[in-house]
Amino acid sequence: MADAEGLLEARRAADMAAEQKGGPGKRIKGADHLGWGMRNRLSRLIRADGHCQFLPIDHGYFQGPTRCLERPAETIRDLVPYADGLFVTRGVLRAAVDPDLETPVILRVSGGTSVVGKDLADEVLTTSVDEMVRLNVAAVGISIFVGSDYEKQTLESLALLVDECEAYGIPVMAVTAVGKELEKRTARYLALSCRIAAELGARIVKTYYCEEFDRVTNGCPVPVVIAGGPRCETELEVFEFVYDGMQKGAIGVNLGRNVWQNPHPAAMMRALNAVIHEGATPAQAFDLFNTLKQAA
Ligand code: 5RP
Repeated sequence: MADAEGLLEARRAADMAAEQKGGPGKRIKGADHLGWGMRNRLSRLIRADGHCQFLPIDHGYFQGPTRCLERPAETIRDLVPYADGLFVTRGVLRAAVDPDLETPVILRVSGGTSVVGKDLADEVLTTSVDEMVRLNVAAVGISIFVGSDYEKQTLESLALLVDECEAYGIPVMAVTAVGKELEKRTARYLALSCRIAAELGARIVKTYYCEEFDRVTNGCPVPVVIAGGPRCETELEVFEFVYDGMQKGAIGVNLGRNVWQNPHPAAMMRALNAVIHEGATPAQAFDLFNTLKQAA
């Protein structure tokens, strides 16, 4: 039974300091009027400085056992301590990730194609909202293929996913995918894709870096994170494009191959964190990478 002994009367306003309205709060683009659950999920993924580094381990959903992701449990175990979010499918999450994980999860929920199939763009939704809730995800990710034969199908999937996820306060991250047509990655095309994704309700958009990246971020009313694409020749090149992308309005990165296919993936993530969270220049990040690499 609740105890009423020694119950103290509530204080009056005059006996207390002036009431603080709201808190400083971090600024998340387009997120000023979100419900508590949606905002809380985004806040778990985006750090107090408004920036983030996500770790994508989702490539197997169309590529099979990709180089350096042959055993996803091992890659995740070694790298997730440096990530603000982990991007995986439900299969890898259930089979290869410790449920005690504190890092928030972004669940990849589109797929249905493969590198040996007819068209990578022919994706559908692969995961129900019940499953997203059961897996306690912080967000979900879906690819859209603007300009492809499957443009309408993938955009419709995005819109339907947003409808279902908004009901549960789950943010949708749209991925502006190009399949095998890497030459599509121009500011004009990516700005178009990102804007369409946001218009259809994505709360965050992942897209490729390109020249004039500010044209992409400026036209997108929600946060943009940079995807990596094929491996660069040098680490310095990676730090340079990430630095430039951040200067031009990205809030962070979602780099796969340029991280885990590097011989020193943990050093890569730590050096990237220096750029993303500490404002390091590409040269400073490269120095840090070399120091960490030698110490490993
Ligand atoms: C694969 C993805 C990846 O998460 C994304 O492309 C990032 O990986 P990478 O840096 O290797 O391109 O969405 O479909």
